[in-house]
Amino acid sequence: MNPKSLLITGGAGFIGSNFIRLFLQSHRDIELVNLDKLTYAGNLESLHDVESDLHYHFYRGDIADAPFVKRLFHEWHFDAVINFAAESHVDRSILGPQVFIDTNVRGTMTLLEAAREFGVDRFVHISTDEVYGSLGATGKFVETTCVSPNSPYSASKASSDMLVKAWETTFHVPILITRCSNNYGPYQFPEKFIPLMIINAMQNKELPIYGDGLNVRDWIFVDDHCRAIETVLFRGKIGEVYNIGGSNEIPNVEMAKLILSKLGKSESLLKFVTDRPGHDRRYAMNSDKIQIELGWKTTNSFEEGLQKTIRWYIDNEKWWTRITSGEYKDYYKKQYGTER
Ligand code: NAD
Ligand code: DAU
Repeated sequence: MNPKSLLITGGAGFIGSNFIRLFLQSHRDIELVNLDKLTYAGNLESLHDVESDLHYHFYRGDIADAPFVKRLFHEWHFDAVINFAAESHVDRSILGPQVFIDTNVRGTMTLLEAAREFGVDRFVHISTDEVYGSLGATGKFVETTCVSPNSPYSASKASSDMLVKAWETTFHVPILITRCSNNYGPYQFPEKFIPLMIINAMQNKELPIYGDGLNVRDWIFVDDHCRAIETVLFRGKIGEVYNIGGSNEIPNVEMAKLILSKLGKSESLLKFVTDRPGHDRRYAMNSDKIQIELGWKTTNSFEEGLQKTIRWYIDNEKWWTRITSGEYKDYYKKQYGTER
């Protein structure tokens, strides 16, 4: 696999922006096109340091807009696609599912159709451990675990995975699917658990813990996820699914306590609140396949990753206060000259 042009969708989001930064550091012979709709979760300020890189090109658009997507494929003749673009927040999917179907399902199909029409060498679809559903106290998800999603978000992601598989079987689109556990790290939108806990603790605000706080997530530092995606892009086997996990299972309330103690704050800031409807109890990934077959492994211990993340939110207060104030939405107009 020796791509000359790579389409990244959703590159202004949390994982996409981290991926773009890392990728541009080590690949200087590939044109990287970032297609992002700039929803509330898309933030070009997360890419400020790479926007003048000659190998980086930004387009604002919707992955579900078929004529637009086709024009882009026609113009660039992409060798590879990595589909990060999605509505990604479970709580929002409970409040308003429609946009999750529009982007995660219809948008993915639109990209698959363009890949079919114009031809690509690889189509990497970024999925999630949530498609497998919820675990009890023991066991781990493997790639052959049946999908059994519980939220509108995870149902839309599982649906997109099925479309991706069908486009391979029926139309021979060369797809690969990655399913990762919960990411944390720099540039994560402050509605998600870890940044919300850090930012609230920094401001001496209450930390909302859903239900009994004993739901377990398997946390992975975002750079490790990005390196896994890069590995799958270059070395993964067409048609395969790869699980990616951090092997760091922690109940939510323990994570919140850890963050409070690292910031020197009192546990009295913990506030138990009404549970999320349909709240999955536990996720845990078995990542043996990508480790054994492709040689990937995590390089950031949980201790290092969490320390880097807390430090980043302390050092980059301007980045997140511009989100909480809504000012980040002005950046696109300032740089590109049109309304957001
Ligand atoms: P995010 O919400 O931070 O970013 C999503 C990006 O997609 C934003 O920039 C947004 O503007 C863009 N987008 C949304 N709708 C679009 C559309 N119709 N057209 C073009 N762009 C659109 O999400 P994230 O946390 O970076 O997640 C990225 C991907 O990784 C998602 O597919 C998600 O399901 C998956 N994933 C996330 C995690 C996690 O812990 N965050 C774990 C596993 C998998
Ligand atoms: O597992 C991968 C998934 O991780 C991704 O596919 C999703 O895109 C991503 O959003 C994330 O989903 P979660 O629902 O697990 O993440 P979230 O950060 O919303 O919540 C993590 C846990 O913390 C979950 O058990 C709910 C709980 N929680 C969350 C928030 C926002 C709280 O207790 N309080 C909160 O305020």
